[in-house]
Amino acid sequence: MAYDRQFAQIKKDLETCGQSHLLRFWDDLDATGRAALTEQIRDLDLGRISDWVERLVKNAPQAPVQRLDFEPAPAYEPEPRDDTQKRKYFEAMELGKKLISEGRVAGFVVAGGQGTRLGFEGPKGCFEISPVRNKPLFQVFAETIAAVSRRYGSVCPWYVMTSPLNHGPTVEFFRSRDFFGLGRENVVIFQQGTLPNFDFEGHILLDDKGSIARSPDGHGGSIKALCRSGALDDMKRRGVEYLSYWQVDNPLVNLFDPLFIGLHVLDGAEMSSKAVIKNDPEEKVGNFCLIDGKVTVIEYSDLPRELARKRNADGSLVFHLGSIAIHIINTAFVERLNGESCSLPLHRAIKKIAHVDAQGNHVEPEDVNGVKLESFIFDAVPMAKHSIILEIVRAEQFAPTKNATGTDSAESTRAMMVERAARWLERAGVSVPRRPDGTPGCLIEIAPGFALDPQELASKREQIPPIRPGDRVYLAQPIADCGFRIVDYQDRRVP
Ligand code: UTP
Repeated sequence: MAYDRQFAQIKKDLETCGQSHLLRFWDDLDATGRAALTEQIRDLDLGRISDWVERLVKNAPQAPVQRLDFEPAPAYEPEPRDDTQKRKYFEAMELGKKLISEGRVAGFVVAGGQGTRLGFEGPKGCFEISPVRNKPLFQVFAETIAAVSRRYGSVCPWYVMTSPLNHGPTVEFFRSRDFFGLGRENVVIFQQGTLPNFDFEGHILLDDKGSIARSPDGHGGSIKALCRSGALDDMKRRGVEYLSYWQVDNPLVNLFDPLFIGLHVLDGAEMSSKAVIKNDPEEKVGNFCLIDGKVTVIEYSDLPRELARKRNADGSLVFHLGSIAIHIINTAFVERLNGESCSLPLHRAIKKIAHVDAQGNHVEPEDVNGVKLESFIFDAVPMAKHSIILEIVRAEQFAPTKNATGTDSAESTRAMMVERAARWLERAGVSVPRRPDGTPGCLIEIAPGFALDPQELASKREQIPPIRPGDRVYLAQPIADCGFRIVDYQDRRVP
């Protein structure tokens, strides 16, 4: 009886927001199917559906920024500009190191995306990326965290955000590798939320007769998910105050960068960002701007062309700083945003969405047929009371694997990993064979446990064998010296 009343209520609610077709196949479902669908409908934010449909689904929204009075945002450069700044960078480094060693900084990777462009079956973090040992992305990060923990004599907890689409396989991946020796208690894997998918008329699509087509709610969903999942409480228990945020597809990321952390804290920032100099005026990265004195990321598609192309007297771009989705976020800021029910704006993405049609047939569309909604983490930047930007050298820290081939593909990422390793070796005085076009004539992989930066590599100069053309060189910490049980640590050299 209670169940009937519940059903009647859900039916009425769906009618109110024009979504009663979701019950179209009700009679075909068994009791379990009905309960599952009811649960999914309850999870929908029904009160907001009509607004989303009008604003974002049926109509393409106006660009969020309707003004032209933005200025370029200021940034710290990779190297200090003068003696005063040199002193500040030193102070920041020392502070950053202290905070890491006190366990007040945690790693936070967002790994809930669908990775459609890469076309890899399975969570993107399981994609094998390293150039010699083919280590998956998650392993590269895990080994880096182990090396950082060892360097600073502290436990650096790692938070991994997944989505319902890849949570199970991600957890299984970590389990099957014994959490890479980091300790299961130090790796917290939690799920983000989802949002329903719509057709262009604003009807929510069904995935099959008893389930709603949904997709992860974007990396911006992390703000809510950190709170709802209990991850934030876990951080509080451990005394974590700062999150080092990165995306799962960038193996060059400097996970715990003392300088970045230190500058962020010294300047009293709530959320800060790393930036690179854009490759060209219209490179598809967000632009760091100042709007009403607030650091704001303007999407490349929203920055008017004339501003994107505007140049300074010396020929450099006025809006030269591109966002690479690397941030420091205060846990107190995440808590504040949740407490104030601050929701990040939703953006629409037009996609091909598999669904069942009105007759119950499964449809794999050949063309785009609907809208997915998501929020972006960088929309939180202007909500911070203060925010700084640290410009970094792209070749050292940013090589995303987005596509199957070409730009930002696995191939380009691996080439950048080898090139960075070659540069570090050359700086340490090791001769690296190079081809006539200047690219390394060998494959090189430096395990994070061997060296986290060029200085550490130089300190191990004696352990590095001569490198010949065609070599596949793998530099790793001998297992006896490694405080962590990391798979794949044994060989120094692969024939
Ligand atoms: P991308 O925007 O590159 O999306 O995500 P994607 O899902 O990885 O790939 P495509 O667009 O489908 O090809 C950037 C980062 O944000 C994470 C991704 O896992 C990646 O680390 N992300 C994205 C989430 O964690 N959740 C999301 O809902 C979306």
